[in-house]
Amino acid sequence: MTKQINSFEEYQSEYKKSVKDPEKFWAEQAETFTWQKKWKKVLDWNFKEPKVKWFQGAKLNITENCLDRHLETRGDQVALLWEANNPKEKARSYTYKELHEAVCRYANVLKKNGAKKGDRICLYMPMLPELGIAVLACARIGAIHSVVFAGFSATALADRINDAKCNIVLTADAIRRGKKEIPAKAVVDEALQTCPSVKKVIVTNCAGIAVSWVPGRDKWLFEELKKVSAKCPAEQMDAEDPLFVLYTSGSTGKPKGVVHTCGGYMVYAEYSFKNVFQYKKGDVYWCTADIGWITGHSYIIYGPLLAGATTMMFEGVPTYPDAGRFWNVVDKHKVNQFYTAPTAIRALMAKGLKYVKPYKLSTLKVLGTVGEPINEEAWNWYDEHIGKGKIPIVDTWWQTETGGIMISALGDKGPRKATYAGYPLPGIQPVLLDPKGKVIKENEKEGLLAIKYPWPSMIRTTYGDHERCRMVYFSAFKNHYFTGDGARRDKDGMYRIIGRVDDVINVSGHRMGTAEVENAINQNEEVVESAVVGYPHPIKGQGIYAYVITNGKIKDEQKLRESIVKTVSKEIGKIAKPEKIQFVPGLPKTRSGKIMRRILRKIAEGNPGQLGDVSTLLDPSVVEHIKKGYLK
Ligand code: WTA
Repeated sequence: MTKQINSFEEYQSEYKKSVKDPEKFWAEQAETFTWQKKWKKVLDWNFKEPKVKWFQGAKLNITENCLDRHLETRGDQVALLWEANNPKEKARSYTYKELHEAVCRYANVLKKNGAKKGDRICLYMPMLPELGIAVLACARIGAIHSVVFAGFSATALADRINDAKCNIVLTADAIRRGKKEIPAKAVVDEALQTCPSVKKVIVTNCAGIAVSWVPGRDKWLFEELKKVSAKCPAEQMDAEDPLFVLYTSGSTGKPKGVVHTCGGYMVYAEYSFKNVFQYKKGDVYWCTADIGWITGHSYIIYGPLLAGATTMMFEGVPTYPDAGRFWNVVDKHKVNQFYTAPTAIRALMAKGLKYVKPYKLSTLKVLGTVGEPINEEAWNWYDEHIGKGKIPIVDTWWQTETGGIMISALGDKGPRKATYAGYPLPGIQPVLLDPKGKVIKENEKEGLLAIKYPWPSMIRTTYGDHERCRMVYFSAFKNHYFTGDGARRDKDGMYRIIGRVDDVINVSGHRMGTAEVENAINQNEEVVESAVVGYPHPIKGQGIYAYVITNGKIKDEQKLRESIVKTVSKEIGKIAKPEKIQFVPGLPKTRSGKIMRRILRKIAEGNPGQLGDVSTLLDPSVVEHIKKGYLK
């Protein structure tokens, strides 16, 4: 098992070691895993191409490390605990032995349906244990999983399936969220009308609703499981073979498939999990994220299982049957580490303390947040009412591309400061840059957050388009990975993440590219052009504000607004719905035709007093029009 740091002093000395000799440091951590063959070289890299190879020549299978190696030591310990959407439905649990068997069976179902090493398999599933099992089943046979969050629309799903040319889709009949039942299989059916690569669809039956069926293509999971054995040898993978693809939004174009590989991701997922959450044997750990996002990949499935933890999955929503559900579940399952998003904290805070008061919350030892900057008010509420002022809060900064937590406190080991993520984990070398790429050495300064040295779980490529990976992450600043975030370093060297500096909007912790949302809005016949920006939203962190130019033929503005919301839901999903839509005669553009989003952002923030210089605009008068029509 990788090392667990036990004090702040130890953190400091480990950090020093990790920077002085990164290869030695990571080789020592990696030694503790099960490798079918050891590496020849720890690291080979340059950020120019980029080329990043960790543990070259090593062979492994991550599921042997998540499952097989625990069978002797903790085979009867609960590995995966599952709490249903409906509080009356019985919780399910799998010991390490049971999970191992379930994964092997599912893996055999995949093989029986034609899956092979290197195939891409798309998972569009609700938060059922079968989702976690399916992820591991893909890894078991060396197929590359591409989990698509089951809130995305059929169009968005089809785009992702086609980009990765998946041959199998794993889904369920329906998604149960609160009182709603969303027909997942129907979304898949619609998407597959434009996905010729898909040959098989394997469906988990959870809600028992009627579904349409394509004979030969569609299979019920429960029927397939009856036909296979419980033994499935783990496929031998190279450390640098892809483990998964996960699509994420950037500032330009379509979402890109971030590729993570087997060896480095494994080492960093376990190491960061154990240290950030200070997990101890016997603890029950709960991350409320969906496995459709990177947080669920690294900190519901891989990190905890690699570390031999008991990890909980939750099918439901924080407000069902009422806003006390999280705290009810914490007491019910005696949760020790609880990891959620600031947007959930703000939503529950708004419902009032009467939903917190009935619960003891006495088992909690570490609280975590992820996905967006946490505002001071939410941090204080979390600290005072959930942690009772006694529990460390780890504000974990990281990204889909980083694979694991980069900047965070390590449980209670070290200082904490509201709204500060804190210090980098061992092995992580962040820098602040000025816009010209000069390193800002002093503290108490703000800058662009970049990383100057590789770490094991970093992005390797963007699926099918390596040049895009280079352009987006490695071309802005020479020899640096650029995060797209701005940050501040305080006098003690702690980092506070300010937010995105590019055209990415963070809605409830979900990344939305402005271009993606604009493309969707522009699908409306009456729309000529649009520009979207984020504005501060009390619960979601950021909301989407859309400025829309119409063809001038609209009779009913409200109707068009509804139709725009509908197309966005259809093209991307409900999570990308614009909160406010303002119709404008024009957009503030430079002479070269670039939209000055800075101006639109200021107006959307309700702050039009300080627009700065608008003299470079092609038509400065549109700004006045836009200001007048601002939607409060
Ligand atoms: C933001 C989620 C402030 C940031 C793991 C980053 C944060 C983007 C934090 C990545 C945090 C994530 N404080 N901002 N603790 N964590 N972010 O890829 O802007 O969904 O670039 O990964 O979320 O989002 P992603």
